[in-house]
Amino acid sequence: MRPQPDFIHEFVRGESDRTLLLLHGTGGNERDLIPLGRELDSTASLLSPRGKVLENGMPRFFRRLSEGVFDLEDLQKRTQGLADFVISAAEFYKIDNKEIIAVGYSNGANIAASILLLRPGVLSAAILFRAMVPLVPETKPDLNSKRVWIGAGAHDPIIPASSTKELVELLRSAGADVTTRFFQAGHELTSNDVGLAREWLAKLKT
Ligand code: MLT
Repeated sequence: MRPQPDFIHEFVRGESDRTLLLLHGTGGNERDLIPLGRELDSTASLLSPRGKVLENGMPRFFRRLSEGVFDLEDLQKRTQGLADFVISAAEFYKIDNKEIIAVGYSNGANIAASILLLRPGVLSAAILFRAMVPLVPETKPDLNSKRVWIGAGAHDPIIPASSTKELVELLRSAGADVTTRFFQAGHELTSNDVGLAREWLAKLKT
């Protein structure tokens, strides 16, 4: 028997070959996004790890020096660790590793973007709610086959619209097919985000 994948996590087996990798925001945990995952896709498997970094007791996926200023060394290390977890979890639960779609919110969206940039082979697509540029990779990845949906809040005080737009440009310049929606919203997730992401996901052929 293989060892348990090394993040605290939830796994909910679905009926289809698709798996949603659910990545919570700062202060969240592995249970937070399970209802969102089900709402986005009622038949996918759900894999939801808890971030290993604690900031004042709040779980995150990587360290930051201040709001919006990331510890890039830690981010790179954590990105590799999370990507390895996804691969080992796919083996452990015997899920199709060709159809793993990240669904990240805030800090979770930022590490999902980082996986796309540093370990693109792990994900087939991504839904990023409230994301910014996590890092600029030394070598541009080949994202030609990747589909990305980004939902941003036009009045988000934590994720500046300019940084979301930079992320869109970065992903597009590497070949990704990116759909962006700006909502009249702040940092919080809205029903419009969820509804449009759900429609996009339903049409996606991976
Ligand atoms: C981050 O640290 O990833 C972003 O600032 C979003 C957040 O507050 O978690």
